[in-house]
Amino acid sequence: MAGKKNTKLSFYTCNTTATTFVLFLSLLSFVSLFFFFSSFKSYYYYSSSSSKTQEEENSQTSNPSSSLCDYNDGSWIYDPTVRSNPRYDNTCKEIFKGWNCISGNKSNGRDLINWRWKPNHCDLSPFNPIRFLHRFRNTNIGFIGDSLNRNMFVSFVCTLKRVSNEVKKWRPAGADRGYTFLQYNLTVAYHRTNLLARYGRWSANGGVLESLGYKQGFRVDVDIPDGTWAEAPSFHDIVILNTGHWWWAPSKFDPVNSPMLFFEKGLPIVPPIKPEHGLDMVLKHMIMFVEKNMRADAIRFFRTQSPRHFEGGDWDQGGSCQRVQPLLQEQVEEFFSLESNGTNVEARMVNQHLFKALKGSSFRILDITHMSEFRADAHPSAAGGKKHDDCMHWCLPGLTDTWNDLFITYLNRI
Ligand SMILES: *[C@@H]1O[C@H](CO)[C@@H](O)[C@H](O)[C@H]1NC(C)=O
Ligand SMILES: *[C@@H]1O[C@H](CO)[C@@H](O)[C@H](O)[C@H]1NC(C)=O
Ligand SMILES: *[C@@H]1O[C@H](CO)[C@@H](O)[C@H](O)[C@H]1NC(C)=O
Repeated sequence: MAGKKNTKLSFYTCNTTATTFVLFLSLLSFVSLFFFFSSFKSYYYYSSSSSKTQEEENSQTSNPSSSLCDYNDGSWIYDPTVRSNPRYDNTCKEIFKGWNCISGNKSNGRDLINWRWKPNHCDLSPFNPIRFLHRFRNTNIGFIGDSLNRNMFVSFVCTLKRVSNEVKKWRPAGADRGYTFLQYNLTVAYHRTNLLARYGRWSANGGVLESLGYKQGFRVDVDIPDGTWAEAPSFHDIVILNTGHWWWAPSKFDPVNSPMLFFEKGLPIVPPIKPEHGLDMVLKHMIMFVEKNMRADAIRFFRTQSPRHFEGGDWDQGGSCQRVQPLLQEQVEEFFSLESNGTNVEARMVNQHLFKALKGSSFRILDITHMSEFRADAHPSAAGGKKHDDCMHWCLPGLTDTWNDLFITYLNRI
């Protein structure tokens, strides 16, 4: 108990310094989500047909002829032929140690890439990095979001580096890290932001929030983007945004001891709103911000929520993920349907907010949720000797390689 408190406190103290990246990762892997479930359950019902409609609309805008293929409707097929020619391996230096399941000796670490996602009505081919680099010369691509977007970014960079090793490492436009593939003048960057909106510690200052009994918490400005990516829309030609995990993270945003307090136009929103309503406001403003600040012909993706797979409790209750095979369809429903109210139920709830906010926007939706729901086998778990199992991030090489296949498939069709 005391040890846990210390971790939390030290995280808060140096929250803004770049050197706390490891702490950031470990805290994020501890994200726990049991707080807002009951209030949510009465509000939002996930319907897979509504997400399919969105998906179809999405592919219709990008390519009318592909409107019949829903890439999320499919299954994982075991295909050992993949292993003979992996797109990259555990020697890629960008892979964070905690995600390197081969070097971390996870029992199925080498087996993960043998699972291939097969949509029912079409094929999803692995992206060809050489063709990609040729086609997207002189292009800047920004991954903007939490560590799950970094997980996808690392897969992307490792894939490209395998075929084009001449890179310049730098931090374009406030990015946490970025690479320019010099032969192609193609830049890929990761902008770290947990909520998309700017936030920071807040304590009572005699204003209206104090009169309502608030003493401390986090101020979240729903209409101001985090500084880490404010310049990104004008720099990049293609962006991929995500947010989701931190909105259900009471280990940081404790509803009682350190609640999220939302501000708009510099003033506190009163009466205070719950995080799920704050998320709606942030999404609305951030989508507007990107649309206003990116060129009209720029390409905007929003990635849907990445599911977690804790079993036997949440991250802080001894939960783990020890499976070595993907889940079966019935198991997926047990894990993720709102009705069963399981440990990981937030994935589909977050998507409800995303789909609502993105409707009518110029964003394309990169819907990776359902295909990922099967992959209880693909998290680092205890690989590399962790204190708590990580059933949230993904082993690399692994699942986010397939997210990138989908991303590139969409890009190639635009
Ligand atoms: C859902 O599960 C959580 C944690 O197990 C529990 O606290 C909550 O009351 C449940 N909500 C409903 C509506 O069953
Ligand atoms: C993985 O196994 C190898 C060989 O047994 C060993 O040398 C290495 O220390 C192990 N790595 C970890 C992170 O446990
Ligand atoms: C590299 O790409 C950027 C756009 O992404 C462009 O502004 C710049 O002129 C390119 N440089 C060269 C040498 O083509």
